[in-house]
Amino acid sequence: MELGLKGKVAFITAASKGLGKAVALELAREGVQLAISSRNKEQIEETAELIRKETGTRVEAFVADVSNPNDVKQFVETMIQKFGKVDILLVNAGGPPSGEFMQFDDETWERAFQTNLMSIVRMVREVVPHMRKNGGGKILTIASSSVKVPIPGLVLSNTFRAGVTGLMKTLSIELAKDQILVNVVAPGRIATDRLKELDAANAEKLGIPVEEVTKKMEQTIPLGRYGGPQEFAKAVVFLASDANSYITGSTIMIDGGMVPSL
Ligand SMILES: NC(=O)c1ccc[n+]([C@@H]2O[C@H](COP(=O)([O-])OP(=O)(O)OC[C@H]3O[C@@H](n4cnc5c(N)ncnc54)[C@H](OP(=O)(O)O)[C@@H]3O)[C@@H](O)[C@H]2O)c1
Repeated sequence: MELGLKGKVAFITAASKGLGKAVALELAREGVQLAISSRNKEQIEETAELIRKETGTRVEAFVADVSNPNDVKQFVETMIQKFGKVDILLVNAGGPPSGEFMQFDDETWERAFQTNLMSIVRMVREVVPHMRKNGGGKILTIASSSVKVPIPGLVLSNTFRAGVTGLMKTLSIELAKDQILVNVVAPGRIATDRLKELDAANAEKLGIPVEEVTKKMEQTIPLGRYGGPQEFAKAVVFLASDANSYITGSTIMIDGGMVPSL
């Protein structure tokens, strides 16, 4: 299948490790040039260098916190100056803290709102005029299986990810006339540092070893294991490519069959 990705430009936030990095690397392997960002300068530059070395593609690194409006603006402005266009936008961010409703004060709610919802609002607002000028594009964001089945002990994710799907569905309708396709990708359990943190938190709560938590979780997945970041990234690459010309407004589960809903 011809993906038509050579020469395209992708902007990816929260890309220094985990899922964002995996998508960046897979896109680079298909010849996409990258603007990647995260908060930690050393880590994002290290990732950029790794991708350059492995793929020979152009990668520009930028330090930005997606919850900070000014950082978002600067990231897009700087990268448009460097690349002249943007074909693909993947908005990613770190996950909100785990915990139940009565644990969180207004400040924590506000931080999760800024990080996991407003980041998408602001990135999309900055990028759409450039995509329109370019004749179209692909906008994606990473949510969670919590958009289909709320996850116990993750009230902040359960709340804001639902908002994200409402936002992205609306955008898919409003932006279709501009040939901008908008989709959500929802990981189930993909083996990254974030997943290690969640398993460790559960192990502590239940007073059992982390290996036991992982084993129990794997038993709830029809494919019987956690996914790899690269397996996740390959699905995202398809959605971001020219090969995807008719999927928009969808939430695609990448979960090994974990979510028991139609
Ligand atoms: N892995 C899974 O199975 C899974 C399942 C459901 C949902 N998710 C969601 O998918 C997203 C990515 O998860 P992951 O597993 O890849 O996590 P991860 O391995 O912990 O990586 C998180 C990345 O986000 C960056 N980041 C965190 N906060 C940021 C901020 N405010 N601004 C900019 N960059 C930020 C981090 O870099 P810096 O520290 O340098 O900023 C890092 O590159 C998260 O929202 C997570 O909740 C993951």
